[in-house]
Amino acid sequence: MARIIGGLTTSHIPSIGNAVPREAELVSDPYWKPFFAGYPPARAWVEKVKPDVAIVIYNDHGLNFFLNNMPTFAIGAAFEYRNADEGWGIPTIPPFHGDPELSWHIINSVVEDGFDIASCQEMLVDHGFTVPMSLFWPGNSYSGVKTIPVCINTVQHPLPSPMRCFKFGQAIGRAIESYDKDIKVLVMGTGGLSHQLDGERAGYINKEFDLLCMDKIVSEPETLARYSIVDLVRLSGAQGAEFILWLTMRGALGDKVSKVHSNYYVAISNTATALMVLEKAA
Ligand code: DHB
Ligand code: FE
Repeated sequence: MARIIGGLTTSHIPSIGNAVPREAELVSDPYWKPFFAGYPPARAWVEKVKPDVAIVIYNDHGLNFFLNNMPTFAIGAAFEYRNADEGWGIPTIPPFHGDPELSWHIINSVVEDGFDIASCQEMLVDHGFTVPMSLFWPGNSYSGVKTIPVCINTVQHPLPSPMRCFKFGQAIGRAIESYDKDIKVLVMGTGGLSHQLDGERAGYINKEFDLLCMDKIVSEPETLARYSIVDLVRLSGAQGAEFILWLTMRGALGDKVSKVHSNYYVAISNTATALMVLEKAA
């Protein structure tokens, strides 16, 4: 049967997408150093656990879905996913391999479980997906891992509640573990932590709340899932609500996980950046 090996979280800021190709040079730059310093242990963990498939839980910011057509939950079921110019100047990188068979298994299973998602046989993936993949697979060396994009609306209200997302993650976890193939599956949740990109509170960051989230997500995720979307916006900024993507990832991992590694740094662009590596108990 398929086995979930663990979870990864990371912020997905577009400027990181531009910095990654220059990492060798920027790693000694005072602005970037504390950010890139977090990644070698996470990359070493990925090398060690060798996932066959990565489920990437992220939000689209207007590349594939726009305000005129905004599913709450969408799952990719394509053979291949590509990125494209989003207007940030991020490079176009090699396509990602899909796993349509596992995609359709997950889609069938979560719909059966009460989550009426949109299924996407064509899907462009934006920085919410590509920046984390480029960070964890240096030199875009991800050709050996199949990917399944799981896209959650964090852009246009109403957003799904943190508890709904946590439970959606649990449904994804049940779906993976009922898949009849001996593969290792990694679950990624991207975005966050606190940030607000526009309006009166642009630049808002809440380190205390971010650190609370990074602590409680390990063994008390349900405590965090009880916040409302309005709570998250108040406490971590309008785009800090991307934390629902982390909670979805955490739901998929099941009851017991241990923290292998984490990093937190304020700030890249307008965002408190955070990285976590969580291992699922055997
Ligand atoms: C930034 C952060 C994001 O999460 C995003 O999607 C776009 C931009 C930023 O801080 O610049
Ligand atoms: Fe974002």
